[in-house]
Amino acid sequence: MITAIAPCTRPMTASLAIANRLAEIQPSPTLAIASLAATLKQAGRPILNLSIGEPDFDTPTFIREAAREAMERGLTRYTPAAGTPSLREAIQAKFRKDNQLDYPVTSILVTPGAKYALYALTQCLLNPGDRVVIIAPYWVSYPDIIRLSGAECHILQTDATDRYAIDIDALDASLKPPTRLLILNSPGNPTGVHYPRSQLDAIGSVVRRHPQIVIVTDDLYEKILWQGLPFLNLAMVCPDLVDRCVVINGVSKSHAMTGWRIGYAAAPPALIQAMADFQSHTVSNANSIAQAAAEAALSGDSSSIDQMVAAYHARHDYLVPRLNELNGIRVQPADGTFYAFADCRPHLGLNPAISDDQALACDLLERTGIAVVPGSAFGAPGHLRLSYATDDQTLEIAVSRLQEYFS
Ligand SMILES: Cc1ncc(COP(=O)(O)O)c(C=O)c1O
Repeated sequence: MITAIAPCTRPMTASLAIANRLAEIQPSPTLAIASLAATLKQAGRPILNLSIGEPDFDTPTFIREAAREAMERGLTRYTPAAGTPSLREAIQAKFRKDNQLDYPVTSILVTPGAKYALYALTQCLLNPGDRVVIIAPYWVSYPDIIRLSGAECHILQTDATDRYAIDIDALDASLKPPTRLLILNSPGNPTGVHYPRSQLDAIGSVVRRHPQIVIVTDDLYEKILWQGLPFLNLAMVCPDLVDRCVVINGVSKSHAMTGWRIGYAAAPPALIQAMADFQSHTVSNANSIAQAAAEAALSGDSSSIDQMVAAYHARHDYLVPRLNELNGIRVQPADGTFYAFADCRPHLGLNPAISDDQALACDLLERTGIAVVPGSAFGAPGHLRLSYATDDQTLEIAVSRLQEYFS
């Protein structure tokens, strides 16, 4: 039985000792399970990979063509650190059109992926000893990105039975100094839940009582929302808080562009300038060709997004009821994303070798060939995240193997 992903046990010589601030940083568990699945696959095991956090679609053709044209036009050099003027304008137009947010171009920064926008923000805003509030279940990278700045995480738990609503009194109590930052992610990875207007209004009224707090709204899954639900974030619902919000977004999930590494942030110009300066000394700028491609993505026809979202929605409507039919498994229907987050706690401890979600994920992988991500990676032990960014046939086979496994 596979029980854990083997750490590197080779002794480290003093000259190669890793810096203290990295002591608590772990490699992403999503990557660890994916690479374990890849190893088993190479060994000839048929693997159904439901661990992946990226669209299974190709980047739409018109975007790839824009990249080819950019190369031909010679857009192969450094760009301004904050991004090309034309992409920043396209992002400005996107915010006006989709979010009714009117930012000057100086409020917009293009980054190599949304992840780097979060990293640059935390490096520019946080001091050791500061505290950041994150909502569990949370995206795996938040705690490590925060720790890299020397700040500490304060985790607010939420529960599936309330559709992962934030307890407003607990939020209020958590926002006292030394808290500097609150991170919101809606629709959320891994829950797929989108905060309704009433929840954002309530969050707004609490953060108004804590003027030292900056609010990150991580909108990466904005576009992957089922029809009928208008996307909302805190800056849209509480316009008086716009100058205290940092909106983070990107094209990775919306346009099936994970490998192109383009994200962006919108915030008051002084903060964006600090982040651009930080970026200029670390990565210089986001890839010039990918910036041209992202400009085409944001300015072009959105029908390819609609097709991808319709496919995710259909897969959600197939998968979630079937997971809920499994013995002892509970999943909240999602509003968007491409994840199902399954509460598997009744299955833990029945067999002494399977006492936690990590052991359950390993046993599932070994016995059924299905790769999923343990919920403890998202601050929700006892759960498994299943990604349905995969084809229908894979999902159908996975469902029948899960029915057998959990019978
Ligand atoms: C909630 C959330 N935010 C940010 C990111 C980072 O995205 P990017 O690929 O743009 O760096 C991810 C990626 O999985 C995510 O799930």
